[in-house]
Amino acid sequence: MLSLLVLALPVLGSLVHTAPAPGQALEQAGIVGGHEAHWRRWLWQVSLRSPGQYWQHFCGGSLIHPQWVLTAAHCVGPEYRNLSDIMVQLHEQHLYYRDRLLPVSRIIPHPNYYTAQDGADIALLELEVPVNISNQVHTVTLPQALETFPPGSRCWVTGWGDVEYGVHLPPPFPLKQVRVPIVENHICDAQYHTGLSTAHNIRIVQDDMICAGNSHKDACQGDSGGPLACRVNGTWVQAGVVSWGYGCAQPNRPGIYTRVTHYLDWIHRYVPREP
Ligand code: ARG
Repeated sequence: MLSLLVLALPVLGSLVHTAPAPGQALEQAGIVGGHEAHWRRWLWQVSLRSPGQYWQHFCGGSLIHPQWVLTAAHCVGPEYRNLSDIMVQLHEQHLYYRDRLLPVSRIIPHPNYYTAQDGADIALLELEVPVNISNQVHTVTLPQALETFPPGSRCWVTGWGDVEYGVHLPPPFPLKQVRVPIVENHICDAQYHTGLSTAHNIRIVQDDMICAGNSHKDACQGDSGGPLACRVNGTWVQAGVVSWGYGCAQPNRPGIYTRVTHYLDWIHRYVPREP
């Protein structure tokens, strides 16, 4: 039953998608909604690239340590990706304009990952060479284990993903940011059940997920693996990793992120804690 639902969601997403209301179309300047990113703000944002005619962006990620990138498992697995099939581009305001691609030495998807909807959609990439932290490139802080990011938290999602469902970000590919409202897990789960025949006792939104967004503001395809960053006591902290959704910015379908606090122990099995 659950696996049926899991398979059905992306398919339904494309079938159910309808043209945005005129008001929405005007606001379209996003990730979905939102604006071009503040210069110098999201210095931990990275772009993952795959080879082809050129090294094309396929997912976002975040620098959590000079030698480690956090991303989504669905970006790099579950099928094995060769090390030579991924390069990392550190923060740049416009994608592709000043590329300096960095090789990775390890790709570590979470061992429990199967599909994004099942959870554990998280992965680590080790950079071959640690990067210099500068005024161009910075790490984002991991949250305290007990941080819950309640509704009202000041959270933003960033990326070079689609500006609405099926519409790619146009050149010059500026990094985008949008402030997204956190939706508490039980409310998010109830919203996801509306319009679906899924029994209410079957959870769609798991404990290792966090929801954010509304019908105007959301992440979208191509933002996956990127960070949901929240301002906590004056520090930017990464609350989530862009994981999945049902279309983009659809009513009753907030964006779903991997909840970083759930995976701190796993992350620190590989990533040294900052002194
Ligand atoms: N899975 C998508 C990707 O690979 C990200 C989906 C996020 N969707 C959303 N509505 N927040 O890029």
